Amino acid sequence: MNMSSLLKESSEKKHVFIKTYGCQMNVYDSERIIGLLEGCNYQVTYDITHADVILLNTCSIREKPEHKIYSILGRLKRLKDNNPNLILAIGGCVAQQEGEKLFEKVPHLDLVFGTHHIDTLPTLLKEVEEKRAKVCETAMCREGYRDEGVVDSSLPKVSAYVSIIRGCNNFCSFCVVPYVRGREKSRPEEDILKEIVHLAQGGVKEVTLLGQNVNSYGNDGVINGGFPHLLRAVDEVRGIERIRFITSHPKDLSDDLICCFKELNKLCEHMHLPVQSGSNKILDLMNRGYTREQYLEKVERLRAVCPDLSITSDMIVGFPQETEQDFDDTLDLVNEVAFDDLFSFAYSDRPMTASTRFEGKVSSEVKRERLTVLQEVQRKYNLKKNKAVVNRVEEILVEGESKKDQQRMTGKTRSDKTVNFAGEESLRGRLVSVKIRSASLHSLSGELV
Ligand code: SAH
Ligand code: SF4
Ligand code: F3S
Repeated sequence: MNMSSLLKESSEKKHVFIKTYGCQMNVYDSERIIGLLEGCNYQVTYDITHADVILLNTCSIREKPEHKIYSILGRLKRLKDNNPNLILAIGGCVAQQEGEKLFEKVPHLDLVFGTHHIDTLPTLLKEVEEKRAKVCETAMCREGYRDEGVVDSSLPKVSAYVSIIRGCNNFCSFCVVPYVRGREKSRPEEDILKEIVHLAQGGVKEVTLLGQNVNSYGNDGVINGGFPHLLRAVDEVRGIERIRFITSHPKDLSDDLICCFKELNKLCEHMHLPVQSGSNKILDLMNRGYTREQYLEKVERLRAVCPDLSITSDMIVGFPQETEQDFDDTLDLVNEVAFDDLFSFAYSDRPMTASTRFEGKVSSEVKRERLTVLQEVQRKYNLKKNKAVVNRVEEILVEGESKKDQQRMTGKTRSDKTVNFAGEESLRGRLVSVKIRSASLHSLSGELV
C-alpha cells in the first residue's frame, strides 16, 4: 500500500448508525455519544446499510420496549452476515440490566456497554476493533458519573437537554430505573452552567434540565440551595429564553420550587408531575411516598401561583391488587385534576423490582380494558385544554418544518403544546407570536401575527 492510500484510509471516517429508545436521558446520552465519536474519526449515518457501527441505546422501563430490542437485534443479523466487520453495540438500560447474558441471547452482538459508560464508549469500541473480541462493560461507578465536560456534536439545535442529576434513590416498587441507572448523583452547578452558556453561545434558546427526579437535585451532598437555586442561576444565562425541566417527583415538590413559576420569567408554564395512581392503597403499594390528597393539594398550590400552568402526568393501570374501586379512584383523580396530557401505561413486571413478587396480578385483558377507558376519559381533557388556547396569541419557539406538511413550520408554546403554522424556514430558532385558530387532540394550528 503506498503512502497516499494509507493517508486516505486513515482520514476516511467510519460511519455510525445510532438509534435511541426510551426517555430524554437516553436522547441526551445519545447526543453525547455522537459528540464523543465525532471527535474520534466517526460520522453519523442515517443509512443503516452504510454503517460500520450500529449502536442501539435501549430502554427497559416496560416489558414491551425491551422485547422490541430483541426483535430488532434479531433482524440485524442479516447485515452482520453480509459484513463481518460490522460492529453491533448495545447500550442503555437493557444493556445494564442484562450484561453478558446478552451475548447468549444475541450471539452476533459485539459490544455491551452500561449506563455509566457513555464516556468510555470510544475506548470500548477501539478494543472491539483491535482485539476482534466481544466486550462487555457494565460496572457502575460508585462515586457516580465522571465529570461530564461539554461535548459538541454536529446536530443543529434550537432546544437542548442538559443532564443535572443521574440515577434515582426512590425505589418505587414497579420501577427498574434505580437498578439500571444507580443511585442519585447531582452534577456540580458550575458544570451545568458552563454547558448551558456554551449552548446559548451556539444559538440554543431553550434548555430542558433532565433527571429522574430533578426536585432532589443537590440532596446528595455539596450543592446548596437545591433545585430552585439552580433554576435561578440558569435564569441568568444570557441568550437562553426558555427553561423547562423533567421529571418531578410529587413528594419532593417544594413551595420554593412552586414559587419559581411566579418569580422566573424564563421558566415555562409547564409541569410534568407523574402521579401513577389515584388510589391511596395502590400509591402505598407503589412506595410513592404521597397520598392522593397530598398530590391534589400540590396541584392546587401550583395553580394558585400560576393559573395558566399546564400540568401533565404519567399513570399506571393494572398494578398488582388494583380493584375496580382503585381504578375508579384513578378515573376520579383524572377528572378532578383535568391534566393537559397524560401518558398512561399497563403495568408490567420488571426484573429486580419489588412488585414483581406481589400477589394479585391483574390479567392482561383487564389491564387493556382499563387503559382504553382511561385514555378515552383523558382525550376529553386534551381537547378541552387545547381548545382553551384558541383565539389567544401564543409565543412559539420555532423548531423547524412540520412533519406532516413541509409548507408549514412547527414549534411549541411555553405550555409545551405543539403549534403548526404557515411560515418560512428562516424562522427556525426564532421566538414568534402566533394567533391560535383551531385545536385538535394533539396539536394547535394558527397564523403568524
Ligand atoms: N422518574 C419518573 C418516571 C420515569 S419512568 C417518576 O418518578 O415518575 C416513566 C414512566 O414509566 C413512569 O412514570 C411510569 O408511569 C411508567 N412505568 C415505570 N415502570 C413501569 C412498569 N413496571 N410498568 C408500567 N409502567 C411503568
Ligand atoms: Fe422510577 Fe420512582 Fe425513581 Fe421515577 S422516582 S425513576 S418511577 S423509582
Ligand atoms: Fe427507559 Fe432507562 Fe429512561 S429504563 S425510561 S431509558 S432511564
